[in-house]
Amino acid sequence: MSGAPPRDKPTAAPRRHLLGVEGMDRDAVSGLLDLASRLRENPERRADALRGRTLVSLFYEKSTRTRLSFDLAARRLGMDAATLDVATSSTGKGESLRETVRTIGAMGVDCIVLRHASAGAPEIAAAAFDGTVVNAGDGARRHPTQALLDCLTIRDHLGGLEGKRVAIIGDCLHSRVARSNICAMKTLGATVSLVGPRSLVPDSFATFGVEIHRGIEEGLAGADVVYLLRIQLERQNERLFPSLGEYRERYGMDTRRLALAKPDAVVMHPGPANPGVEIDHALMEHERCLMSDQVRNGVFVRMAVLLSLLGEVDA
Ligand code: NCD
Repeated sequence: MSGAPPRDKPTAAPRRHLLGVEGMDRDAVSGLLDLASRLRENPERRADALRGRTLVSLFYEKSTRTRLSFDLAARRLGMDAATLDVATSSTGKGESLRETVRTIGAMGVDCIVLRHASAGAPEIAAAAFDGTVVNAGDGARRHPTQALLDCLTIRDHLGGLEGKRVAIIGDCLHSRVARSNICAMKTLGATVSLVGPRSLVPDSFATFGVEIHRGIEEGLAGADVVYLLRIQLERQNERLFPSLGEYRERYGMDTRRLALAKPDAVVMHPGPANPGVEIDHALMEHERCLMSDQVRNGVFVRMAVLLSLLGEVDA
């Protein structure tokens, strides 16, 4: 045995962007969730952590929860937050995403939060920007902060995701929420199954390492988490099922069907919901429906993301 002192473990280079949960290991995901919980316990402690830094929300698609919660998260950390209204920006004059991002960069902005209809837009923005880019949803591909806030909500209610069974029901085909959640939930040790007709849950989703169920009864059996997706009518170029009524009949979730899952199963939905289609009104008010907790956790998870990318990590 040589007497050489033990070498410090090489530390991973700090991340500059959050483009996806892909590539984050269990410690990285859990660390962000831990930081979000600490911020929730004592939000005042970090009220000045990012003072003097600037965040711009660049949303090319509609949003309520994500945009507002990034804005609040930034302000609660002392940042200056501004929004570019894309509808009235030079995008209408044909300016490219790259040019828009460069223009924002020239104003000394530290962080761009980007939502875009095209998968891969965050990578283009990150290559054109010296600061930090956070993906707030790109096409049907990724929505990392939604997955993180969902995992935090499950952890709060079920004590963790290890060994838990999550059934994601509905329009997986068009859902960046489903894709990011499959990745994050599996990273934390959950088993994920997708439930829906072939037109909304194609067989090719099996490559994500999930189970696929066509029938709601078998899909709900043994589920700890019933995760409902919005039927994204605006993204469907063709009718992928005969009618909303038929969808509701086969896959719509209500308190009666919830009894098919585990007795203490929780219900989640990223919002906005189509009440009376994928989720019934009464279920939205149910004590085991966690939609408000998801929204509340969204602010703390986004604070944790901003702090870990832009500030000191020792919260
Ligand atoms: C989702 C989105 O935009 O990806 N909503 C959200 O961010 N909370 C899901 C949806 O639009 O259905």
